Amino acid sequence: MIRKNVSEKDRLLITKFLKSVPVFRTFSSAHLDSVMDGFQIISVRKGEDIVFQAEEGTDLYIVLKGIVRVSLSGKDGNELVLAALKAGNFFGEMSLIDGKSRSANVVAMEETVLGSLKRDRFVKKMEEEPAIALDLLTALVNRLRKADDMIETLAFLDVHERLTKFLLDNSEESVDVGNKNYFKTKKRTHMELAAHIGSSRESISKALKVMAHTELVIERDGFFLVAPGNELRQ
Ligand code: CMP
Repeated sequence: MIRKNVSEKDRLLITKFLKSVPVFRTFSSAHLDSVMDGFQIISVRKGEDIVFQAEEGTDLYIVLKGIVRVSLSGKDGNELVLAALKAGNFFGEMSLIDGKSRSANVVAMEETVLGSLKRDRFVKKMEEEPAIALDLLTALVNRLRKADDMIETLAFLDVHERLTKFLLDNSEESVDVGNKNYFKTKKRTHMELAAHIGSSRESISKALKVMAHTELVIERDGFFLVAPGNELRQ
């Protein structure tokens, strides 16, 4: 992880970028300018950890380029993926707000550039411009809605249904095989699928075997072709 202060050239680019980020769009130019004084740029390699669950820290991070994965780790080493955050998203706001330890792990999924901001500076701006707090709350509520959706899925759907839902939700296009319609999605390892739907590698392998047998899932050319699950598709 490489940290550096913001150069004059970066400053203009980042200020412009932040104007399009929901939580920063209400910052006046003067506030954005003073926020930039405390801003640091962090370059992270693919696979590098940025934040560890349960560690101390109150910095806020903004993804400027790249993508990060937010996840929880279980005692048995299993992982549950909570979200993938792209450029324009932020993380670290939970510890920033309540001062408690980090709620999740955050790791770079590709070469990523982050901006980081100290808690004091952000909180001061929020006190000066309350609209910032409303934007932050809106972003948090959005995360809570997605978390509720995940809880519902984990509580009410079995592994086959969760797997079908995940594959369909992440499909890019539909294709016809014979006279049947399928949805095409990037092939993932059984371990990755388990992390996304809160299951184990073994259960995924079993479920995929059954689904392949009944032609609900076909593996072809680096893709999964998935038969629509009707009511499961949102
Ligand atoms: P914090 O707890 O400070 O550090 C880990 C961060 O992961 C957390 O702040 C949030 O920014 C982010 N995070 C935690 N849970 C979720 C979730 N369910 N969806 C998206 N991001 C999350």
